[in-house]
Amino acid sequence: MLILGFESSCDETGVALVRVGKSGVPTLLSQTLHSQIKLHQAYGGVVPELASRDHIRRVLPLTRLALKEAGVQLADVNAVAFTRGPGLAGALLVGAGVAAALAATLGVPAMGVHHLEGHLLSPFLSQDPPQFPFVALLVSGGHTQLMRVDGVGRYELLGETIDDAAGEAFDKSAKVLGLPYPGGPELAALAKLGDPAAFALPRPLLHQPNLDFSFAGLKTAVWTAHQRLGASPSDQQRADLAASTQAAIVDVLSKKTMRALAQTGLRRLVVAGGVGANQALRAQLNALCARGNVRVHYPELALCTDNGAMIAMAAALRWQSGSHTALIAQTGAFDVKPRWPLDALAA
Ligand code: KG4
Ligand code: ZN
Repeated sequence: MLILGFESSCDETGVALVRVGKSGVPTLLSQTLHSQIKLHQAYGGVVPELASRDHIRRVLPLTRLALKEAGVQLADVNAVAFTRGPGLAGALLVGAGVAAALAATLGVPAMGVHHLEGHLLSPFLSQDPPQFPFVALLVSGGHTQLMRVDGVGRYELLGETIDDAAGEAFDKSAKVLGLPYPGGPELAALAKLGDPAAFALPRPLLHQPNLDFSFAGLKTAVWTAHQRLGASPSDQQRADLAASTQAAIVDVLSKKTMRALAQTGLRRLVVAGGVGANQALRAQLNALCARGNVRVHYPELALCTDNGAMIAMAAALRWQSGSHTALIAQTGAFDVKPRWPLDALAA
C-alpha cells in the first residue's frame, strides 16, 4: 500500500510517500518541502493569495522529486491523501485539486486528512512512536489544544485557547519586538540571551481549574512593557523581554498540560505542532514529565512544522486501523474545510 500525501494548508508545500508494508508499520519513503517564508517576509505575515499561487508553482515539481527520491512511479500509488482543512481556503484548494485529479487519473481513492490529525500523529514518524492512549498538546500557529487520544480517530477535546493560539502569541510578541516573520523561532533565539525573570508578565487562566488557554492579554502586556522601555531599548532589554515572554507562554502550556495528565490519569504525552519545536517548552515539559513519571514524545524537529509526511502518515494510520472510509472523497469531487474542529472527526 503506497500513499502519496500533500500538505498545502498555509505557507508550506509538502509532498511525501508513505508505504504500509506487510508488517503493518507505515514507513516514510520520501518527503519534499518548500517553505514560503521568504515570499511572505516582506509583508510581515502570510498573504493568502500569494500562498495559493506559490503552492500551484511548487506542487508538481515537488511531487516528481518525491517520487524520484522514493524510487517509485506515480502508477504505483494506491491512495492520494491531502490536507482538507483547517487552513487557508485557496491554499487548501491547490492540494485538494491536485490530489483529486491524480487520484481520478490513477483510479485510486483520494483521502481528505485533517491537518491537526497530521500533527497529532506525526510522532509516529519518529524512531520512538507513542502507544495509545495519550494526552496530546497541539500547539501551532492557529491552534492550541489539549486532547485525549485513545486511538486513531478517537479524539476528545480537553481544553483549548479561547482567543490567540500559542504560535500566534509568539508571532505577535515577536512583531512588537521588531523581529521578522515567522516570529516564533526568532523570538526563541533572542530569548536565549535574556533573563526570563526580568519582566513579570501575566500567566492567563493558569489559576483556573479548567484546561483552557488565553494568550491575547499576554500580547498586550508585552506591548505595554515594550512601550515603557522607550524609543530605543537596549539589546539586553529586548532579549530580557523576549525571554520573559517565552517563559510566560511555556509556563502556561506546560502547567496546563501536566494538569490534563493528572485529570485523565494518563502517563503518556505527545507534543505536536510548530511551537513543539521550541526548546524552552521541551526543557520545561521534560523536567515536569520526569518528575511526574510521564513518557513524553515529540515529532522529529523537522516534522514539528507543516509537512507532507504527517499527512501521508495520518492517512496510512487511518487505512491501517480501518477508519479511513469517512475520509475518502467521491471520485473527481473534492471540497475543503477551512474551519474544521478536530473532535468533530468521525473515527
Ligand atoms: O504547525 P505550524 O508549522 O503551522 C500551523 O499549522 O500553524 O506552526 C507554526 C507556528 C508559528 O506560529 C511559528 O512561529 C511557531 O509555530 N514556531 C515556533 C518555533 N518554531 C515554529 N514557536 C516558538 N519556538 C519555535 N522554535
Ligand atoms: Zn500546522
